[in-house]
Amino acid sequence: MNASSRIAVVGATGAVGRVTLALLRERGFSDVHALASERSAGLTIDGLDVEEATPERLAGGDFDVCLFSVDAAASRELVPATAAAGALCVDKSAAFRLEDGVPLVVPEVNAERALEHRGIVANPNCSSIPLALVLAPLRDAAGLARVRVSTYQSASGAGAQALERLRAERPDDHDLRMDWSFDGFELDEEQKIRAETRKILELPELPLSATCVRVPVPVGHAEAVWIETEDALSAEQAERILGAAEGIRLVQFPSPAQATGGDDVLVGRVRQDTVAERGLALFLACDNLRKGAALNAIQIAELVTAARAAA
Ligand SMILES: NC(=O)c1ccc[n+]([C@@H]2O[C@H](COP(=O)([O-])OP(=O)(O)OC[C@H]3O[C@@H](n4cnc5c(N)ncnc54)[C@H](OP(=O)(O)O)[C@@H]3O)[C@@H](O)[C@H]2O)c1
Repeated sequence: MNASSRIAVVGATGAVGRVTLALLRERGFSDVHALASERSAGLTIDGLDVEEATPERLAGGDFDVCLFSVDAAASRELVPATAAAGALCVDKSAAFRLEDGVPLVVPEVNAERALEHRGIVANPNCSSIPLALVLAPLRDAAGLARVRVSTYQSASGAGAQALERLRAERPDDHDLRMDWSFDGFELDEEQKIRAETRKILELPELPLSATCVRVPVPVGHAEAVWIETEDALSAEQAERILGAAEGIRLVQFPSPAQATGGDDVLVGRVRQDTVAERGLALFLACDNLRKGAALNAIQIAELVTAARAAA
């Protein structure tokens, strides 16, 4: 994207949309338009008048880049028409993530896939992004045999209303039941992490099991990760590799509070997992609204438009 790009933020009133507007402002973009549902039409957010997002408005040729942070049903209704009209669409919902022909991108891991887009690039789930970012350099160094992950996901990961509920209630009154659907075996969030991580890392058979829980934290997802590599890799080697990887910052004890407001995935407690043959364990924390959503999507749009301009 360049300074003259016409950018639509669709879902601008939501948890991710608000952060997207703030990041675009920080980066100096000025031709930015805020769109949301008809409920918000006429409101002002971040100094912008909110318009209703309709397929006609989005496909009218007024936008070069559209950053969608709406639910999957709204994305399915709005994104295809917008892409067909020629705008680059980066979609943060689950609607297109696993679709063939739609790249699922973490720029530090698979930027080249974004360039294969046919109008739509999908942004992974807010837990898949930091996990893929950490696994990719270890895959490159020693191969991945097996991954287990336990997530501790903040209230804002469930949207602006969940965050407001957490802030309005005393933390110990907060209802921590998962709001995701359950197939009797796994939550759909757990299936998403496996399927998305396999697609991003291009390891379609990677054994990966996840347990996802919501915790009464406003912003910042944390993950405990156990990794078995194909080749031997010491904790010291793994730490060195992760410390040199783009988008990762090593800290002693990563926490959601420390990650909030920052761009990096914080990684720490890298150690040998002594109960596995070639096992490593580590802990990570990431701002789910920034690198887990808004920042990753802006980085995708920037890399695709920079490649287009250079061609
Ligand atoms: N929160 C995260 O950490 C995170 C991370 C990665 C991906 N995501 C994904 O990003 C998307 C948005 O998440 P969020 O947390 O920002 O949700 P949110 O806070 O609930 O915001 C939803 C946004 O979508 C808008 N919207 C709803 N229905 C719409 C429609 N039919 N047409 C146009 N706009 C509509 C809402 O507008 P109104 O205010 O007018 O209702 C609001 O702006 C979801 O798909 C989510 O899975 C979220």
